[in-house]
Amino acid sequence: MEIKEYIELHQQRFLDELCGLLRIPSVSANPGHKKDMKAAAEFLKDRLMDAGVDHAEIMPTKGIPVLYAEKIINTSLPTVMVYGHYDVQPADPVELWNSDPFEPVIKENKIFGRGADDDKGQLYMHVKAFEYLVKTNQLSCNVKFIIEGEEEIGSPSLKEFCKQHKELLKSDIILISDTTMIAQDTPSITVGLRGISYLEVDVTGPNRDLHSGLYGGAVINPVNVLTKMIASLTDNNNSVLIPGFYDDIILVDEEERKQLSRAPFNSETFKKSIDVDEIGGEKGYTTLEHIGLRPSLDVNGIWGGYTGEGAKTIIPSSAHAKISMRLVPNQNSMNIDKIFTEYFKSLAPKGVKVNVRSLHGGEGYLAPLDSKAYHAASKALEKTFGKVPVPIRSGGSIPVVADFEQVLGVKSILMGFGLDSDAIHSPNENFPLYNFYKGIETIPWFYKYFTA
Ligand code: BES
Ligand code: MN
Ligand code: MN
Repeated sequence: MEIKEYIELHQQRFLDELCGLLRIPSVSANPGHKKDMKAAAEFLKDRLMDAGVDHAEIMPTKGIPVLYAEKIINTSLPTVMVYGHYDVQPADPVELWNSDPFEPVIKENKIFGRGADDDKGQLYMHVKAFEYLVKTNQLSCNVKFIIEGEEEIGSPSLKEFCKQHKELLKSDIILISDTTMIAQDTPSITVGLRGISYLEVDVTGPNRDLHSGLYGGAVINPVNVLTKMIASLTDNNNSVLIPGFYDDIILVDEEERKQLSRAPFNSETFKKSIDVDEIGGEKGYTTLEHIGLRPSLDVNGIWGGYTGEGAKTIIPSSAHAKISMRLVPNQNSMNIDKIFTEYFKSLAPKGVKVNVRSLHGGEGYLAPLDSKAYHAASKALEKTFGKVPVPIRSGGSIPVVADFEQVLGVKSILMGFGLDSDAIHSPNENFPLYNFYKGIETIPWFYKYFTA
């Protein structure tokens, strides 16, 4: 039986099952959801057993457990390892959702719910594609699944897990759907991911909030200081001023820049989609290059002093910010943490204390365009979309991809089916049913071409 026919026969069940997974609020950032993490892992374990793995196990880590499953048909055949994550971002701000984030609804041919795309929807496509291959006796290689519950908090346990289970995780390629495609009719293969360095900073002044009349003008205000320090991190061309920040970057040659500029992009549509009149970015690069090829520095949040209703006249005792930098391949997140900290501290005037700590970090990733896996993914996407996919470098991060390469020595192929409009991490996250089913349709072709 052809995959298209199989999907048609089972489409309602596939969707019902995905809804079951989306109902479990497996938010990794919130320790109160420990039970839900377990429930999501159990749910997927059961569905993988139904689909035909011969072994599935929820394995402990120093944090949230990993679900591992496998079907080994012949050890002399290649092994594809599917990676995905069952944890999701918090749903906040919940009041901006049009429906309950954990009670999926289908509207305008899209499924709405936290995790609908990132990554439950995309991960579940793999479970169903695998089911098809097993039930129709077409599996041509060994398959392993490694599904973690800590991706959205920086995968703090997975690297160690890989080190401890190198033999178990042996594979020829890691197949991942946790990225986007350019548009619904334009398939793409993600060949680059950015790394990340995420820090929290505190600037502390007087031992308590002070009356701003009795002390104002005389005492250094930590919020004033912090904002100036942040302003000094970049210049008027939006270049980062941390000494050495750009040193390790491998410049992308003109040929690859040209390749990547094949991706269709309309800046008017882009601006409209986020309701802004103008976009920013480092001078000398296009928007797609800002996102894919260049590192960036952003304040994610800033607080301090009085932020309640009305006016309160104080000099705050402290100020805080969460600052992240998206890095490009060959920049090292630990080194960036170090040079950021040195420079940031050097910006502070005498009279305040500065504290910087790392919340998490991860390295970027580059995939070759001439690999067997790239060709297999390209042929598979061409088969089901009728168009040769475009290679793209994404601005997002999946730090574990670099860890897989470093610890296991295995490359990943990023075959994503999400759209930018899916609102991942935002209110009203959704996944078009077209993409969900198209993903299920495409994946078996990857297996076929990869093992041919
Ligand atoms: N799936 C995303 C990453 C992504 C999305 C990559 C779209 C490319 C295209 C992943 O779940 C994610 O959100 N990653 C975090 C990583 C962080 C928590 C270390 C990110 O990019 O912010
Ligand atoms: Mn994800
Ligand atoms: Mn995410």
